[in-house]
Amino acid sequence: MAVAHRLPLCCPSCGTPLAVDDEAAACSAPSGCGRSFPRRQGILSFGDPSFFYGELSRERTRSLIDHARATTVASAIEAIEDPQKRSWMRSYVLDDSRGDWQFFVDLGDRDPSEALLVDVGSGFGAVARSFAPHVGTVCAIDGTLERLEVSALCARDQGLENVVPLHADALTLPLPQGVADAVVVMGVLEWVPLADEQTPVEQVQLRFLRQVARILRPGGQLVLGIENRWGYNYLLGEADEHTGVWGTNLLPRRMADRRMRAAKGRPFRNYTYGRTALAALLAQAGLEVEETLAAIPKYRAPDMTATLRTSTPLAHYLRSISAQPGIAQLAGRVATATGVAPELVPTFIQLARKAAA
Ligand SMILES: C[S@@+](CC[C@H](N)C(=O)[O-])C[C@H]1O[C@@H](n2cnc3c(N)ncnc32)[C@H](O)[C@@H]1O
Ligand SMILES: [Zn+2]
Repeated sequence: MAVAHRLPLCCPSCGTPLAVDDEAAACSAPSGCGRSFPRRQGILSFGDPSFFYGELSRERTRSLIDHARATTVASAIEAIEDPQKRSWMRSYVLDDSRGDWQFFVDLGDRDPSEALLVDVGSGFGAVARSFAPHVGTVCAIDGTLERLEVSALCARDQGLENVVPLHADALTLPLPQGVADAVVVMGVLEWVPLADEQTPVEQVQLRFLRQVARILRPGGQLVLGIENRWGYNYLLGEADEHTGVWGTNLLPRRMADRRMRAAKGRPFRNYTYGRTALAALLAQAGLEVEETLAAIPKYRAPDMTATLRTSTPLAHYLRSISAQPGIAQLAGRVATATGVAPELVPTFIQLARKAAA
């Protein structure tokens, strides 16, 4: 198994290298700003402990953690009463095949056993852990402490020792420039704008992507999973899962904002993009798209991850899902034949690279 190397950390406020011990990480004066960052539940914490994102409530997540501490995460999940939540958590938290697209990650001539992979917004960590046997160190960063605690307990259950959890805001990563060989961002770009509601959405997303570009080494790779704004599933009537409201992704942004305020009393900030607009946003952050893959049905649990360079894999997929309603399959066939299908896939995995020095 790969062995963790020491993870260099730097102060999110002033950029000074941090001294880390069992209690905290310190940014010592006179070279540093004097701030200290505590461990919370054993996890170095740079973030706001009140930040919470979750499919289960904070209370239910905490009781899951207590149960998992005494037993295993798997048995704590089996004790969830609601059968839908139980089955969802089983696959979302425990299923390492969620990272099955990882053979697309290309570390170049870097020795994998020395490589550092950073998963930003790692959540319960299934994807981060799927990389652990294949690289030197995985750093799993999330803004929700409870999700990192579950993730750390899963690593304990699996005997993985090279997954380092860090509690931090994705907009201020406590890692030095050029430290990461690869960065994974799955289902996070569309959530970061909620962390700074005073700034226009695209500016916050760009700030986040620039953080990612900063920590990548020259030539390092980003793997970014996100829903396609124009996914055929939304055009056929599925609600935008980020808001629970149909059309917030599809409508012009201002109309979507009005619709969201009317439906939920809050602004619309979960921006997703089509293929070209997403590539343009990445380019503005200094990240060049190498390839766009379609993850079907969703990047969260892909049955298939296919290149969009040719329509053959999509055509194959459409043939294989004969259980789909006839109209959807017919529309899919027409979209493939006319060449528009790559623009309408439900989710993308964008592979992008920071320019080599
Ligand atoms: C949709 S979940 C994806 C989790 C994980 N990548 C996966 O695929 O299982 C979004 C994650 O981003 C985290 N997140 C959202 N905004 C964040 C922020 N500003 N800083 C750090 N983490 C954030 C949430 O806590 C949550 O775990
Ligand atoms: Zn400092």
